[in-house]
Amino acid sequence: MTRKLPPAVETRATQDYDAVFNTDDSLPTRESIVAGAQEKDGLLVTVTDRIDADLIRALPDSIRIISTFSVGYDHIDIPAAKARGIAVTNTPDVLTDATAEIALLLMLGAARNATASIATLRSGNWRNWAPTGMLGTELTGKRLGILGLGRIGRATAQRARAFGMEIHYHNRSRLDAEREKGAIYHDDIAGLFSVSDILSIHCASTPETRGLINRDTIALLPEGAILINTARGDIVDDEALIEALASARLGAAGLDVFNNEPNLHPGYLNLSNAFLLPHLGSATLETRNAMGFRALDNLDAFFRGQTPRDLVEG
Ligand code: DGY
Repeated sequence: MTRKLPPAVETRATQDYDAVFNTDDSLPTRESIVAGAQEKDGLLVTVTDRIDADLIRALPDSIRIISTFSVGYDHIDIPAAKARGIAVTNTPDVLTDATAEIALLLMLGAARNATASIATLRSGNWRNWAPTGMLGTELTGKRLGILGLGRIGRATAQRARAFGMEIHYHNRSRLDAEREKGAIYHDDIAGLFSVSDILSIHCASTPETRGLINRDTIALLPEGAILINTARGDIVDDEALIEALASARLGAAGLDVFNNEPNLHPGYLNLSNAFLLPHLGSATLETRNAMGFRALDNLDAFFRGQTPRDLVEG
């Protein structure tokens, strides 16, 4: 197990496996992952481990499964794992609600000027309540564009409806009416972006989506639009977004994920219209326990000779 996991998860792992833990939660190096994998049957990894083709080639033959404690698996080279006959599993579903809650927090924080307001208060510069001071914009009545109406996108839409927002979305294919729940489908991103007062990214990081939010696509958004990202940092071109926020072409951004975490582009730190969180989407004890149990369920099924529920198909 490459990272320290919640106590209940490690307790269960101790009962069922001859598990090796990362007791001080230091970030493992590639070499230490390979060294730690010797004579082990499986690896339990997280999003901070880059399990690329070179690392997979260096793993011992004993490793038969990589169970990732995450819904995303862009940190694992799936074809390389497949080529070595190593199964890969993830933890979908269990972090949907927690991540959707963070998307709403980002929307509220970005729309209501939380970064600048909190800084004013904490620096002792809050002089008085002012009719024109620290004004934001409200979510009520706004059009929310969802890029990727999957599990987390739909859970975000459900919460946004309670704020009186109108939901629009783009997916590769249109959903059935039951899953759409009245959301308006756009068959291309230009259509979606042009009506998105707030655009929330919920697609996976893939070769097609990396860099999708760039100068050209930002230009499709309405003037003053707000961008929300709880998916993956590499879907956004940082320079383009920072430029759009600095020039007020975009009104604000709420970001929970970044390129090159934890070393995010320093340009974000000076922007008072950027509401930033350190990748907290799934960071509740309930959800992190559930992710750990799900990762162990997948290992259990695999070692019982069954197909794990969350087998990633390469
Ligand atoms: C995931 O699961 O992919 C998140 O980014 C971390 O919880």
